[in-house]
Amino acid sequence: MTVTADIVVEDEPDRIAAERLAGAADAGGQLALAGGSTPRAAYERAAALGVDWSRATLWFGDDRCVPPDHEHSNFAMVKRALLDRLGGPVPDVRRIEGEHGAREAANRYERALIDAFGGLPELDLALLGLGPDAHTASLFPRDAALGETKRAVVGVDTPGMAPLVPRVTMTLPVFAAAREVVFLVAGADKAEAVRRAFGGTADPDAPASLVRPERGSLTVLLDPPAAARLPEGAVSGDAKSR
Ligand code: 6PG
Repeated sequence: MTVTADIVVEDEPDRIAAERLAGAADAGGQLALAGGSTPRAAYERAAALGVDWSRATLWFGDDRCVPPDHEHSNFAMVKRALLDRLGGPVPDVRRIEGEHGAREAANRYERALIDAFGGLPELDLALLGLGPDAHTASLFPRDAALGETKRAVVGVDTPGMAPLVPRVTMTLPVFAAAREVVFLVAGADKAEAVRRAFGGTADPDAPASLVRPERGSLTVLLDPPAAARLPEGAVSGDAKSR
């Protein structure tokens, strides 16, 4: 089944991502943030929009099992790019405590999510990135985590890409239950992964193609190099249409 997504090509996709994040935060939403390097600019822009983040709750779609001040920590990146730049009151930040090891950290994070949502989390917005192998969060091709249908959070002992440290990741059921899923992808090195993730049918070798909100919206924000290999007609919007 072809992934039905609103695919938008924009020279600065982080600008749209920042507006989506700030809008969800201003509404007091429950957000899950992406790690890696691409979203950094979006977080910096979102912090500068001056909305009220105090009623929002920030979760993480995944993190590496390292201390919260480690160079590979997604929490550390979000702290620098977003939290430390907010002028006003800060949101409730629920980081993954990866320092406890993948299994224990996943159990703790799942308990925190279930306590907060009273069951399977229904995030208001999940921001996701895309690896060159079409992984997203820490859901890697051919990893057992892809087959998880019950748990909200699992540990990943052997990630398919650097940094090669154990991970903790939200699972496909959580992203499927989200009201809004936004992918933010930039760079020519992601063009083939974008084609595999959003240009055709769901493929377990392209985990991002399995992310399909059941009732929510799916938006894919791309810069032109990342969109270069999408099939004709796949793009639904571009800079001119926004
Ligand atoms: C992580 C991310 C991961 C990331 C992609 C893209 O923990 O690494 O959650 O899924 O979004 O690997 O990373 P870049 O934005 O650095 O290319």
